[in-house]
Amino acid sequence: VKGDPAKGKQIVDAVCAACHGVDGNSVAAANPTIAGQSHQYLYSQLKAFKSGERKNPTMLGMTATLSDDDMHNLAAYFSQQKPKDREAANKELMPLGAKIYRVGNAASHVPACMACHGPSGKGLPEQFPRIGSQHAGYIAKQLADFKAGTDRKNLMMTDIASRMTDAEMKAVAEYISGL
Ligand code: HEM
Ligand code: HEM
Repeated sequence: VKGDPAKGKQIVDAVCAACHGVDGNSVAAANPTIAGQSHQYLYSQLKAFKSGERKNPTMLGMTATLSDDDMHNLAAYFSQQKPKDREAANKELMPLGAKIYRVGNAASHVPACMACHGPSGKGLPEQFPRIGSQHAGYIAKQLADFKAGTDRKNLMMTDIASRMTDAEMKAVAEYISGL
């Protein structure tokens, strides 16, 4: 296994904790919870921010001075933290959110999110990120970013998000936050 979590923790305390929480559970909806995300996913996103492939001014700044070893150390640390359960705030959006997540939308060819992200949103380590218990606001922004295709691109997610309506994205984001 690559990376030294103790070395990662030193950077976390000095830099990342302010936004993502010392244990990777963030408070503000714009800052994702990154606790328990797989090493591979965390490392790949840090690299993507640093190279500008995933565009975010804040995270571009945060990754500018990180070495490849730093990124592995940080990924090692956050992948060992435990994400906290969250409750979906808007219960009215649950029926549509649950339908998209578990069944998809056949008419517009939106697949069931569950197929890749798992029945409880835990994802599949090294392949599909965990999305359960994530802030709804952050999830909705990622779907919008995939759809727009300028700040964030991914073959699978760009295709899926581009088939979704704003109402579907909002509802599924809310549903996922409570998984
Ligand atoms: C996103 C790690 C510092 C704000 C992310 C993601 C990772 C990450 C892995 C992507 C999460 C995902 O795709 O689920 C780190 C590390 C940091 C750090 C290791 C320290 C070196 C910070 C700080 C702030 C911040 C200090 C606030 C000033 C954000 C925001 C996003 C994000 C707003 C979401 C970007 C978007 O909407 O695409 N961070 N972060 N991060 N981080 Fe950080
Ligand atoms: C990433 C939501 C369906 C594969 C993501 C992210 C979200 C999301 C919010 C970003 C996670 C983060 O930033 O932490 C959804 C929703 C779906 C869906 C709402 C259903 C409508 C699928 C399906 C697949 C898939 C069916 C597989 C075919 C992926 C992959 C990533 C991802 C590979 C990582 C992308 C990257 O590396 O940037 N998804 N997803 N998703 N999803 Fe999905």
